[in-house]
Amino acid sequence: MAHVYELYDLIYKKYVFFNFFITLGLDRYWRRICLKKIYSVTPKPRRVLDICAGTGDMTMLLEKKFNSAEIYALDANKNMLSIAEKRLRRTHLVNSQLSDMPFDDNFFDLIVISFATRNIFYDKDLNSSLREIKRVLKNGGFFISLETTNYESSFMNFFMNIYVSTMIGIVNFFNPNYREAYMFLKSSSLRFNAMVFADRLKNFFSDVCCVKLFPGCVSIHISKK
Ligand SMILES: C[S@@+](CC[C@H](N)C(=O)[O-])C[C@H]1O[C@@H](n2cnc3c(N)ncnc32)[C@H](O)[C@@H]1O
Repeated sequence: MAHVYELYDLIYKKYVFFNFFITLGLDRYWRRICLKKIYSVTPKPRRVLDICAGTGDMTMLLEKKFNSAEIYALDANKNMLSIAEKRLRRTHLVNSQLSDMPFDDNFFDLIVISFATRNIFYDKDLNSSLREIKRVLKNGGFFISLETTNYESSFMNFFMNIYVSTMIGIVNFFNPNYREAYMFLKSSSLRFNAMVFADRLKNFFSDVCCVKLFPGCVSIHISKK
């Protein structure tokens, strides 16, 4: 596998269901809290981009919340976007890699990434992706990330490890073909640290802040160009 996004070819048909199953439905709650945060910092964006939009779960919420904004959803995986296409009403779908987006400089007021930050963090190209996000964002625009992160406490990480291993074990038992995709999910979610990501963001953006959500293993990072 040359790129992380190719893993989603294995699981795109069941992605929405497994997301719900592994998070026990909490992903919906986290997305709604994130949307409230987004609204509180930028209530009237004109152009919004959901990067690594996948099957469009976050894009659907952005469409509803910002009903007068122009909405774009970008993803490198065609199969994931084919599911998004059926669920979205008025979003421009863009099949592209993050590190080379087909948009003009300073184009968006708001860029959002949900449950995909780990995908770019463990890619060779984190810096070029962040540089590209900054390029297409307007001055004063916001880049907001929602992602599962590990705990600061090794005691809590121990329980998180058991939980994630159990849920992914169940998925792999019923669907052995998904093993490679879910092993990446497991190893990256246990390693990904909110404070380390905040430091990387500070190399490109200002006003970086990080908010943890219940039960402490999900973070929202807000940053500004
Ligand atoms: C875990 S899914 C998240 C989907 C969606 N944002 C959500 O909230 O459910 C990660 C998505 O990131 C996409 N992706 C991973 N690396 C990418 C890259 N370098 N450029 C564009 N998309 C990428 C994958 O194709 C996949 O659809």
